[in-house]
Amino acid sequence: MLNALDAIKARRSVREFESTPIPMDVIRNLVETAGAAPSSKNTQPWRLYLLQGASLEALRTEYLAAFDAQIPAKAQYSYSPNPLPLVWTNRARDCGMGIFKHKGIGREDKEKRLAHDRANFEFFNAPQVFFLGTDQNAYSHGTIMDCGFVYDNLMIGLAAMGYGSCPQFSAVMYPEILKKHIAGSDDTLFIAGLPFGTPKAGSLVNGFQPPRLPIDEWFKVFG
Ligand SMILES: Cc1cc2nc3c(=O)[nH]c(=O)nc-3n(C[C@H](O)[C@H](O)[C@H](O)COP(=O)(O)O)c2cc1C
Repeated sequence: MLNALDAIKARRSVREFESTPIPMDVIRNLVETAGAAPSSKNTQPWRLYLLQGASLEALRTEYLAAFDAQIPAKAQYSYSPNPLPLVWTNRARDCGMGIFKHKGIGREDKEKRLAHDRANFEFFNAPQVFFLGTDQNAYSHGTIMDCGFVYDNLMIGLAAMGYGSCPQFSAVMYPEILKKHIAGSDDTLFIAGLPFGTPKAGSLVNGFQPPRLPIDEWFKVFG
């Protein structure tokens, strides 16, 4: 098991998985640990749903059908400013190009690009997927930040144990379908999905990690 700093460094987005699920006792321990996250006034506003087995397959089938039918995908909240600041746009473009390059997808290869987009809507074929949410009638910016702490704990915990995951906004872009498949989630704001499992051996795309800024560009010390 990696220590916290090494696990943070080891985490990267995994977009190809082995089919074997992670045992339930390991998942329960992970979720319980992730729930140790701080939150404003200890409100613990998060909700976490795990889909696996037949439940996940049923959701996946309906997600793919919606994608193939070109049903507009729209999450329940806006993740980023629109338009993005130019410098962010450039980073996002470089990230997309890097993923395509590692998947052997050329600039003009529209078919493979579409297949890549589609893979998002099958949750990269992961054997298990977490869906993170909160109360859709009672949230603000900070609520989503609180939930994000649990989300990151899950990713880092998985990395510490040698597993992989991919944070995914696209996983919550058909909220009505999610609500249909997840009992009791009628009043949930779906924040993000997290496909997870064992990283596929020899996967090229899993080897991709976009570069980070030198810390002096975003870290300032005073005094
Ligand atoms: C909230 C969130 C949503 C994301 N959504 C997607 C997604 O829908 N599809 C995808 O392939 N990657 C998605 N990513 C992964 C980012 O592209 C990735 O974290 C970033 O490029 C940095 O790479 P790394 O995670 O490998 O360090 C998302 C990341 C975050 C934090």
